[in-house]
Amino acid sequence: MIVCKSAAELEKMRASGRIVRQVLDAAVALVAPGVSTMDLERAAEKKIEELGAKPAFKGYYDYPCVLCTSVNNEIIHGIPSEKRRLQAGDIVSIDCGVVLEGYYSDSAVTVAVGSEISPELKKLLEVTRASLDCAIAKVRIGNTVGDVGAAVQQHVEAHGFNVVREFVGHGIGTRLHEEPQVPNYGTAGHGMRLREGMVLAIEPMVTAGKPQARVLDDKWTAVTEDGSYSAHFEHCVAVTRGEPLILTA
Ligand code: MF3
Ligand code: CO
Repeated sequence: MIVCKSAAELEKMRASGRIVRQVLDAAVALVAPGVSTMDLERAAEKKIEELGAKPAFKGYYDYPCVLCTSVNNEIIHGIPSEKRRLQAGDIVSIDCGVVLEGYYSDSAVTVAVGSEISPELKKLLEVTRASLDCAIAKVRIGNTVGDVGAAVQQHVEAHGFNVVREFVGHGIGTRLHEEPQVPNYGTAGHGMRLREGMVLAIEPMVTAGKPQARVLDDKWTAVTEDGSYSAHFEHCVAVTRGEPLILTA
């Protein structure tokens, strides 16, 4: 079942989205060589509480943390750890979800550690970030989920990178994961038609090498099979009568 949200509900989701943005900003501000991913987790947990929200990920299928922190070849769902110290030249995806007054929001960014990452990694971050913008531009009444996925895929592949197929974006609202699934690949004009009030969490996961993923023995961390680096960005976006409304901006 697809749940369309009223204007009042979108307002609540916007409030939730603003909090997730502030939490991510706080975590990103700490990213530096020598900082552990658990340092980011602690800062995020404190910020969520300060802002009066609840974490969406902690306890979800027994996930242990408020953030996912995925470094280098890790695609998504990396678990923060005291032992994982960021190094200059790394990239780290920080993914956070919160719930406020029953409404969920979910967003992710990937950033460089230190001021010098390789030109190839810089391009990976830029292309992944831009592929999300391409997808967001398709979030309009009458377009389809296939239009969204095709927009990501075309942008990514045109720049020589690949999209991960094993994980997809999702609807979001009073639950973290709602229908529909939102793949980062597809055919324009195919799939479910977008209607006013639908909210999509769009989350391109892009690899610099082959797109295949596998999950580590911790049962969470998804890594590239070939060890190539991966980037991930995510926004929650509402379908409106006008422009796409980015709830996690
Ligand atoms: N953004 C991710 C997702 O939508 C994060 C989920 S982590 C989990 O699946 F722990 F909550 F599963
Ligand atoms: Co998500």
